[in-house]
Parts: sequence; C-alpha cells; structure tokens
Amino acid sequence: MADLEASLLQALNAQECIADSGEFAKSAGVDHMVLVGTIRSLQASEMIVAEDIDHFRYALTEESQGYLTAGSPEAQVFNAVTPGEGITLAELKAKVPGEAGDVGFKQAMQQRWLALDKAAGEPRVVRKVDSIEDRTQALLADVAAGREIPKAEADNLAKKRKLIKPEQWKTYKLTKGAKFALERKKPATDLTFDMLAKGTWRTQEFKDYNFNAFGVLPSGGHLHPLLKVRTQFRKIFTQMGFEEMPTNQYVELSFWNFDALFQPQQHPARDAHDTFFLNKPAATASDRGVPADYLQRVQSVHEVGGYGSAGYGYSWKLAESEKNLLRTHTTAVSSRMLYRLANQPGGFKPAKYFSIDRVFRNEQVDRTHLAEFHQVEGLICDRGLTLGDLIGVLNQFFSRLGLKKLRFKPAYNPYTEPSMEIFSYSEQLNKWMEVGNSGMFRPEMLRPMGLPEDVNVIAWGLSLERPTMILYGIDNIRDLFGHKVSLSMVRKNPICRLGL
Ligand code: PHE
Repeated sequence: MADLEASLLQALNAQECIADSGEFAKSAGVDHMVLVGTIRSLQASEMIVAEDIDHFRYALTEESQGYLTAGSPEAQVFNAVTPGEGITLAELKAKVPGEAGDVGFKQAMQQRWLALDKAAGEPRVVRKVDSIEDRTQALLADVAAGREIPKAEADNLAKKRKLIKPEQWKTYKLTKGAKFALERKKPATDLTFDMLAKGTWRTQEFKDYNFNAFGVLPSGGHLHPLLKVRTQFRKIFTQMGFEEMPTNQYVELSFWNFDALFQPQQHPARDAHDTFFLNKPAATASDRGVPADYLQRVQSVHEVGGYGSAGYGYSWKLAESEKNLLRTHTTAVSSRMLYRLANQPGGFKPAKYFSIDRVFRNEQVDRTHLAEFHQVEGLICDRGLTLGDLIGVLNQFFSRLGLKKLRFKPAYNPYTEPSMEIFSYSEQLNKWMEVGNSGMFRPEMLRPMGLPEDVNVIAWGLSLERPTMILYGIDNIRDLFGHKVSLSMVRKNPICRLGL
C-alpha cells in the first residue's frame, strides 16, 4: 500500500496528471478497488485532486458465456435439424435440451430459418434456408472483446434476451492537490509537551478539527434509585392534593427541630450521642426568625403547660433552643410550615403538605442504618380531624404504594397524641413489617403557634430508603447510599413503579 501510494505520487509528479486511474492500476498490477483506497486517503489530505470518469459497458452473463463457442441457441437448434427430411419435435428436444432448445426454436422460427411441416402425420421441423449467419454469437463475441455493438441490438440482448448485462464503474482523473508532496507528512492531532519544549510546534502541521464529528457520548444522566422512588412519592402526594414544603435547610435550630415540637430539653434524642450539633456557628440567636411572643408561649408550655396540659415542670433554657444542629427529622420543616400557616395574612386556612428530603442522626452505621438518610412526611391541617381521618388517609396513601393491608400499633412521640406505628403485611416475606410512624400533633405544639382550638393536624412519616431497598432488592443500605455505592448500579437500575 505504501509503495502504491509512493509510485502514484511519483507518477503524478513526473506527468502532472494521471488521465485514468484505471489504466494506472492496470500498469501497476493492482486491483482498481485497492487503488481507490489510496486515492481517497490522498484526496482527504488534499495531496491530490480526483475527478470522476464514468464508465459503462456490457458484459456476458453466465448463460451467454457458453454460447461464445457452442453458438447461439437459435444456431444450435438450426444445426440440429437434418437438412431435407427434418426431425420431429421430440428428437429436436433430445438434441438441444433445456431452455436453450426452447428459446433457440422460438428464435429460429421467428427468423424464418425453420418451419413446422404438419403435412404427413407427426409434425416435423424442417430447414427453410440452406445456411445461416449466427449474428447473436458474433455480437456476444464483440461484447466479450469489449467492442461496441449497435444500440438496438444491445437493448434486445440486454432487456429481452438477458444475454448481456450493463456494468457501470468509475475511475478517476488525478492531478496534484494543494498540499501535494512526494511523501505524506502525518499531521499531528495533539499539541504535546515535547513540541512546546523543542519549539517544533512552529513547523509542525496539525490536523484540522472536524467540527462536524460527533463527540463521545457522555455516560452521565442516570437517576439513582432513591431519586426514582422520590419521584413516585411526589406523584402520589400531588395526586392526593398535597403541596411540597421547602426542605432546603439541613442546618436547623434546635427550637424548630425539638422545642416547637414539645420535645423536652432533657429528652435523650437531644443528646450529642443522637444528634449532630454544629461547632461553628454553634448557635443562632432566636430573635433571628422566632417571634418573641411565640418563643414565650413555647417556654411556658414546656415549664407549666396550658391548653389542658400540665407541662413538664422544668426550667426551660433559651440557650438550649438556640443550638444549631443537622435536622434529625423532616418534622422540623413541618413545624416551621405550621407556624407560618397559623400566622399567614388572612389567618389559618386548611392545608395538605408533604416533604421528602435528607435528615441526619448520630447513629452507629450498619446494614440497615446510616447517619444520613431520607424521610417522607405528609400532614393535613384542618378543623375537626380525628384519628379515623388519619387511619383513612394512611390506608389511601399506602395502598397507592401497593401496601393494602395495614395495622396500627400504639406508640409514643413527644409531639403526637395519639401516636401509631404503621405495619404492613408483606406477602413476599410473609410477615408484618414496620413501614412508618404517625400521629395527631399535640395541642402543646399547635396552640402556642396560634392555630385555632378546633384545628387538628394528622401527620405521618417514613424513610425513603426502606421502600427503595425492598423495591430494588438491596439488603445492605450501604449499597444504596454513600461512598460504597457502585456506579454501575446507578447506571443499570430499572425504572420504578410503585403500587403495581
Ligand atoms: N418524625 C417522626 C420520625 O422521625 C415521624 C413522624 C412524622 C411521626 C409525623 C409522627 C408524625 O420518625
């Protein structure tokens, strides 16, 4: 190949022009197709210019090749007929068998070389002329030799008798290109350190950028299973008429995370063993965002109670409520929203809210626990809500997830009364599994916010990880979330359909 390229360039240098690449290939003793490869590549480098030369010729078919020596079918048939008495059709068939016999007989009759004599009994094929000239054979010989034949006869042989076939091909007229040279210089594709160091970049030829080429397909754009399940939860909530709460605040005041929720300051969950407190800044002054009168009512409900409650009877510390922490549950978001709902212009209006976001707990990490995970939380705030409403909504919500059989177990949360753990029967595992926690927010939480006395809030929460692990058959939470997650799991996980 390299030799072919060199000899082509040399020939072009000597003659300025190669009139026909076909001739060049013949004299170089290579197949023209091989030469075309070299031409294309030199053309792409602008070393040569190639102009198309269109060629057309007829070639013999496999069938007609045999007629070159044996004569055309009509001549074969004519020769098979005995001069004078002729022969029967059966005898002729035996002498010139197959298609050649049939076609030859038809042709010879048309040319009036033969006739059918039916005078005496069985019809006989007889000659009508003494001798014939095999024009078809002569034409085939011309075609085989590359000589041109008259158009009408060529059409007849090609279209009607299918004895010759048209062939088209291209060769090229070659001239020097803008970057003609006797040897190809391979243009560099990259600027290297070496070129810069040695200064060779000044003379180095660089390959042009191909701005039309497609880039390498990025392998990004895959959704993590948690995101897919989150989308499904969002759909279910929005279909049920819930509105999403703003959850864009990982760092929260102890006040909204605990105090507003009537969670006493000595509660073990407020210990550094359970909650991540911030060192810098360790606290946020409560006058930044918590109105003084509300703060006052919260302090008083913790210390002495009110709204029918006896309170906890301890000395509530402002400093404890000002500590910054990483929110331990999305209920911190709910408490902010409920306060806003109670104090919005125009007063309280019923609302249905949900949130899905990250929470943090200072926990020992194991196959089912992480120090950060996601919670899904829903709440309804309206007048006269009862535990029956909560059970009804939970049945509706979980049945949309595909969990149709629920049981409720009395439980305790500092901020709800009554409280219920939610269990669902898993047909797959043949057992009851805890799927969430729920309750009715206490008046000790709602009344200091300013919500009217007849307004109740029913609420529930669950983790996003648990249903995701069940759906995707993942049994170690560290395979789902965190630094040990395999990227191929993220790339290959299937679509998510809750509730099917
Ligand atoms: N905050 C509770 C938890 O972290 C869940 C919950 C939400 C319970 C709302 C009752 C009402 O488990």
